[in-house]
This record gives sequence, structure tokens and C-alpha cells, in this order.
Amino acid sequence: AAPGALPRDLEGRRVVVSAGGTREPLDPVRYLGNRSSGRQGYALARVAAQRGAQVTLVTAHTVDLVDPAGVRVVRVGTADELRTAMLAESDGADAVVMAAAVADFRPVEHTEHKIKKSDRDPDPVALTRNPDVLAELVEARADGKLDAALLVGFAAETGDADTTVLDHGRAKLARKGCELLVVNAVGEGQAFEVEDNAGWLLGVDGTEQPIPYGAKAVLASTLWDAVSGQLNGK
Ligand code: CTP
Ligand code: CA
Repeated sequence: AAPGALPRDLEGRRVVVSAGGTREPLDPVRYLGNRSSGRQGYALARVAAQRGAQVTLVTAHTVDLVDPAGVRVVRVGTADELRTAMLAESDGADAVVMAAAVADFRPVEHTEHKIKKSDRDPDPVALTRNPDVLAELVEARADGKLDAALLVGFAAETGDADTTVLDHGRAKLARKGCELLVVNAVGEGQAFEVEDNAGWLLGVDGTEQPIPYGAKAVLASTLWDAVSGQLNGK
């Protein structure tokens, strides 16, 4: 291959990637959202397509990004819409990568009309839990309702007094039931709203591969190397 050329090791594979941050409406002009830029998910979709995969990118809100060439893009807003799209798109996929930042909670009510201020204090915003899309994909597959070879999660973690970022990642991989989990250390200018990422790729088989600080395309290549290796039985 030419120097710098990507392998075509995902030729004939179908992959689904989610990206961006969901927005959970409060009223027609306001929402509960998060800082996800969508860049990591877009990089994953772009690199997979460059390596020959048939790619569907299910994207929630992102900063202004160009659609990756040769990728089918499905746009969603809320976690519930993301859930519906992911369950529909993932059947028969060789790999499903949940890089989206899904809101864990949404406002219980969202009003049809804009909430107006008045002289009294505002009501508190009551929240309810959103579906866990990755957990539902794992469950649907276990129930035989979904055919998907590899399910991949992402986790942005901060360390604390008694638990490291890596420990949080190990626990999350075990809890989620997916095959691979990308763990990113957040804070100190990492992960959100920046071009670069750093972390580990944890496998359910116990493998723990450090991912060097570098461009999101590097993380994407590291992940597709692992996916391709597992799909090809290496
Ligand atoms: N995820 C999801 N649906 C949700 C929340 C998260 O599919 N409602 C997915 C994310 O896309 C990611 C993985 O689950 O791939 C881990 O997300 P994360 O927010 O780190 O995990 P949670 O289980 O929500 O735990 P917590 O936020 O409490 O750390
Ligand atoms: Ca969460």
C-alpha cells in the first residue's frame, strides 16, 4: 500500500456509529443538553468509510461539521429519537459504536408554548430517566431481537479520591455488557470541545490498550484496528 494509505480491512462490513449530544426539550426554544462536539463520532464514521465499511452515522447535535464522505447520515434530537434510530439501524451490523453523549435525564414535561417569566420564582425542573441506548442494544441482542456482532461504548470519566479513571472504566465495561469500551480521561483540557483525546481501549476479554494523546482520528484508527481484529478472528 502507498505510505499513509489506510487498510481496506472493513470492506464488506456494515457499521453504525452514533455521535453528538442529545438535546432534551423544555419548551420550543430551550433544552437540556451537553458539551459534546460530535467530532469523535464523525472521525470514527469517516475512518470506517475510508477503510471500506458501509457506514451509518446516527447523529444528535454537533458543532458545525461536514458530513463524512460516503456515509449515510441519520439526524436525531432527543435520546428517545436516538434510541429508535439505533435499534432500527443496528440490526445486522458488524459493529455498533455508541460515541454519542446521551442525556441521562430529560425534563418530565415539555411545554408546547414558551415558558414565560412572571413576578414569582420559577418552578423547579422535574427530571426523569432516559432510556440507556447501549444497555438496550445489549439486552435486545441477548433476547435474540438484534443481530450485532460487536457493541462498543464510550466513557468519559474523572478520577476521584478512591477510584481512578481506569477503574471507573473497568466497572462500566462490566456493567454495560458491551465487547469494547473506550475510556477517556476528562478534565484538564481533554475530551470535550477539543481536537484531541487520550484514554484506554478496554476489551471484555481483559485487554487494556492505552490510547496515546493524539488526534481523534488516531483514536478512531485504534478502535477500528481492534474491531477489525475481532471480526477477523485475530
Ligand atoms: N449511553 C447510552 N444511553 C444513555 C447513556 C449512555 O447509550 N442514556 C451510552 C453512551 O453513548 C456511552 C456509554 O453508554 O457509549 C457510557 O455512557 P456514560 O454516560 O459514560 O455511562 P452511564 O451508564 O450513563 O453512567 P454515568 O453517566 O453515570 O457515568
Ligand atoms: Ca451518562
